[in-house]
Amino acid sequence: MSAPKKLFIKTYGCQMNVYDSERMAEAMGGQGYVETDRADDADMILLNTCHIREKAAEKVYSELGRLKPLKALKPDLKIGVAGCVAQAEGAEIMRRQPAVDLVVGPQSYHRLPQMEERLSRGETALDTDFPEEDKFDHLKSRPKARRAPAAFLTVQEGCDKFCAFCVVPYTRGAEVSRPAPRVMQEARELVERGVREVTLLGQNVNAYHGHEGGLAGLIRDLAGVDGLERIRYTTSHPNDMDDALIAAHAEVPELMPYLHLPVQSGSDRILKRMNRSHTAESYLRLIERIRAARPDIILSGDFIVGFPEETDADFEATMELVRQVRYGYAYSFKYSTRPGTPAAERPLVDADVADDRLQRLQALITGHQHDIQREMVGREVSVLIERKGREAGQMVGKSEYLHSVHILDCAAQIGDIVRVRVIEAKTNSLASVLV
Ligand code: 5AD
Ligand code: SF4
Repeated sequence: MSAPKKLFIKTYGCQMNVYDSERMAEAMGGQGYVETDRADDADMILLNTCHIREKAAEKVYSELGRLKPLKALKPDLKIGVAGCVAQAEGAEIMRRQPAVDLVVGPQSYHRLPQMEERLSRGETALDTDFPEEDKFDHLKSRPKARRAPAAFLTVQEGCDKFCAFCVVPYTRGAEVSRPAPRVMQEARELVERGVREVTLLGQNVNAYHGHEGGLAGLIRDLAGVDGLERIRYTTSHPNDMDDALIAAHAEVPELMPYLHLPVQSGSDRILKRMNRSHTAESYLRLIERIRAARPDIILSGDFIVGFPEETDADFEATMELVRQVRYGYAYSFKYSTRPGTPAAERPLVDADVADDRLQRLQALITGHQHDIQREMVGREVSVLIERKGREAGQMVGKSEYLHSVHILDCAAQIGDIVRVRVIEAKTNSLASVLV
């Protein structure tokens, strides 16, 4: 038997890409590939790319430039581009970087095995269709090897919201939900492989409609799966946070007290220009209802600063909203023009002004984040252990609130869930002891 071929995948961007990379590796397993973590060792290199901001997209071309010389050393090496840059730019990628043999979009990667056969005949392959068939039906069932105790599970893809700045509705297409029985099946397979926590993924996961009870119905069913102890979901849109989902936060113990709920701006004028179809006030009222259901919930958000025509007053409204919500985590980005989106035609905010706003917003958010971490000191939390720590006897995992927690003198194993008391807040993690 010939030695297995080696596949190196580099993943950019969001958690959905992390999930897709896993599935692509599994699909290529059927073609005789095993994964390697070294590009210079690989027979095939796949970049699973992100198109959300200009910087993310440009990174792909610099990486391709770096990889190209590997082809001179290994003429049979195949280089592929997957993900949202593949979807958005298609054949243009091969024109700009002829070293690329394969371009595959996020909705057609179940066809990778046939595409690989074309490559082995010396041809190139391009597929950026939004096929009729469901890619998940065509992907093999997941291999049985044991895996890490926390896993991602894609339940919904695409977005119909068309925020004025965002490429997702174009790269990932219209909203599609996977039927609940298929999701349940995949969750059970993951549990059999040692998984105890799943994060349900979707660009608009709370718009999920593959279950008659929506995302809340799916979460309640998943909570009944023996051995599945923790459920999370991301990313949500404020307009799809319905009563049933809020009630699930109060009633389903397996649903973790953490919610990523991007608002993007605190200014109603900008929200309108962004086509967000909610106001700052309606968002704050929603947060109140969620906190009433689950008082200890930690919130996280996304913000864009320097959106076209954002004034100082608009930015101050964002700062004020952040002060009111007090996020446990938040991600803020400088607006990046995305060709083809409605906002791309509008006048830009001065770059220095946008930089300054970003720094101020990030300082405010980081302050809250550290305060909230310090408030955890003295409290008991549950930790799902994910790995050994660097120092002897230490284990590391995540609390219910998604804080990274180190446990000192811990004899428990990876995959165990233990109760600990937090004794110290460090910059990016909490230190704790078993109770
Ligand atoms: N510029 C800057 N940030 C963006 N995001 C989406 N599109 C853009 C853009 N054009 C941010 C939003 C979104 C997150 C995933 O990325 O905040 O919630
Ligand atoms: Fe993009 Fe999210 Fe808006 Fe959809 S809801 S267009 S994914 S920012």
